[in-house]
Amino acid sequence: MSLPTSFKTGGLTLQSPFLLAPMEGVSDAGFRRVGAEAGAGLGYTEMVRARGLVKRNNSTLALVDTIDADTPAGVQLLVVNEGELRRTFEVLAELSQTTHPHFARIAAVDLNFGCPSQDVIKIGAGPAMLKRRAKLHAIFEALADLKKRAVLPSVVSISAKIRLGLNEGERAHKVYLPVVEMANDTLDHLVVHARHAKQRSRDLSDWAAIGEVKAASRIPIVGNGDVCSRADAERMRAATGCDGFMIARAAIRDPCCFVALRGEADWSPQEKLRCVEAAFARLPPTRDKHRQFREELLHRLRAQAAGERVAAVIPENAHLR
Ligand SMILES: Cc1cc2nc3c(=O)[nH]c(=O)nc-3n(C[C@H](O)[C@H](O)[C@H](O)COP(=O)(O)O)c2cc1C
Repeated sequence: MSLPTSFKTGGLTLQSPFLLAPMEGVSDAGFRRVGAEAGAGLGYTEMVRARGLVKRNNSTLALVDTIDADTPAGVQLLVVNEGELRRTFEVLAELSQTTHPHFARIAAVDLNFGCPSQDVIKIGAGPAMLKRRAKLHAIFEALADLKKRAVLPSVVSISAKIRLGLNEGERAHKVYLPVVEMANDTLDHLVVHARHAKQRSRDLSDWAAIGEVKAASRIPIVGNGDVCSRADAERMRAATGCDGFMIARAAIRDPCCFVALRGEADWSPQEKLRCVEAAFARLPPTRDKHRQFREELLHRLRAQAAGERVAAVIPENAHLR
């Protein structure tokens, strides 16, 4: 099965099936810009807590850094119920008219039902929501309604990112499958991170589960987990039939990896360095974590451009700590 060359989600037709993942401490505007220039179809902010947006916390509002007019971007939200989701859209819409005009550029919203943090699971959110079907259904319906009523008119794609459950037991009971039925009627696409919440990134992801989701779906399915090369994407596509791919750690190793993923001649280390330096110079880091990540990345790319081999430091998803 050959790889698709585009990906359609709601009102967006992306000229690439590869999406840049939401990553805490990594996925700020500069990083998304590099991904877009290298050929990623769409990039997401790191997870943003809806509660912080509703309270208008400055540090949370800063994470919605859709400041680059040339890079299509989605915001990933963590919500606990549909009321909170509705209030979040109202706050974003209001601020987009006043103090935060770049909120009017949010092209997509993704809901995070994969965050493995104990704080999140304790309040019944993230992957703990997969079994709370009435609540999840209400959230999906509210999201579809907010999109239909154009409360934030720029948002033309809505999605959710799920894991396979809280633990091995939930994965074995396939708690993720009923979610697909709900998503079929409400969302524009569904991202499946093929691990349960107790698994770490070193544990192999379960692509068979992505295939089950694809077979049950009527909307595009984005596979996520262990796609590091074009050959991996081809294998995932053959194993699952998925329509798109979400890339996380491979982009940390090489934020320009989308060039090779698309089957084009890879850029030289010097070209990669130029692209990253230009994007980072134009788009300030959103917070200290992003600044630190950028410094490490630039150090590595400069060494590579000088012909040295430097291994990437892959930060663990901080939500796991
Ligand atoms: C540093 C780091 C931060 C992450 N932050 C988030 C996040 O904010 N939201 C989210 O849904 N997933 C987050 N993830 C998970 C990734 O989006 C992705 O689902 C996971 O790494 C598997 O994809 P991969 O095999 O391509 O790395 C994070 C992962 C890493 C490594």
